[in-house]
Amino acid sequence: MLTPKGRGSLSDVVFELMRTSAPTFGPALTTLADDDDDLHITLWALYELHYRGFEDVSDDLEWHPELIDLRRSLETNFEHVLRDRWQENSPEGDFAETLFHFVENHDGASLASHVQRDADVEQALELLRMRSIYHLKESDPTAWVIPRLPNRTKAALMELQFDEYGYGDPSRLHAELFARGMNLSGLRAEYGAYIDDVPLEVLEQNNAMSLFGLHRRFRGAALGHLAAFEITSSIPSRKMAQGFTRLGLPAEMVGYYTEHVEADAVHEQLAVRTIAGSLVEEEPAVRGDVFFGAFSCLDLEDRFARRMLTEWAA
Ligand SMILES: [Fe+2]
Ligand SMILES: [Fe+2]
Repeated sequence: MLTPKGRGSLSDVVFELMRTSAPTFGPALTTLADDDDDLHITLWALYELHYRGFEDVSDDLEWHPELIDLRRSLETNFEHVLRDRWQENSPEGDFAETLFHFVENHDGASLASHVQRDADVEQALELLRMRSIYHLKESDPTAWVIPRLPNRTKAALMELQFDEYGYGDPSRLHAELFARGMNLSGLRAEYGAYIDDVPLEVLEQNNAMSLFGLHRRFRGAALGHLAAFEITSSIPSRKMAQGFTRLGLPAEMVGYYTEHVEADAVHEQLAVRTIAGSLVEEEPAVRGDVFFGAFSCLDLEDRFARRMLTEWAA
């Protein structure tokens, strides 16, 4: 993948300096982002240095101190936004039951219901391009968290990750199933191919997962995000599969979603009771952050869904 297109003063200057491997990023550190789009495409690219990187950027820049400095300042800004949206809204009660209720009672817009009944093929393909930013590296942000966990939680998370990563069979990796579906739907399946097309809401979703994964202090939020993601996956995946069948999309693309109907019905129990549950038992202080992560997952998906539904209704 090449560096994305800049979206403003900050991303323009940072990407240009990254491509030229400039020894100093001084100008990048003094440039303010024009808006949230500019901030989040920059942050997304800085995170990408820790994943697969860019063909036009030297691998040496991954831990460049000035880029880490810049990343930290953008992350601080984003963390404030996420915490403001959440408003410390963490319910009391038995952990697992309370978390299930918290997620199930969150009233958000549903893209899956739209795909199931009303979407046309163009909208379905547009949604796949948006989702590809995450699904082509599915589960990678959660993998950052593994070494930061106590043993019981770590073992339980590995059970889930082993499934996401194909049980040792590269052709069964969820990211690979999605890539195959993309190809057969006539879409590009290279990692990050559609980054220039995605709106702010998709960048925020992806950046939140990297933020939670890359900081040990956010381990509770990372597992709360994972739990909410899994709880809200099984039924919507069935609706997506039904919608894509209705629209005549390739069986492999439908198959990615049918795979998640059963897998995520299992994963949600594992993610809430065994993974997040064991962490909260061993480290009760992170309980609030688990709810913060779960809320952020739901809220960011809701923002994305409302944006797409509004655009499609126009
Ligand atoms: Fe998956
Ligand atoms: Fe899953």
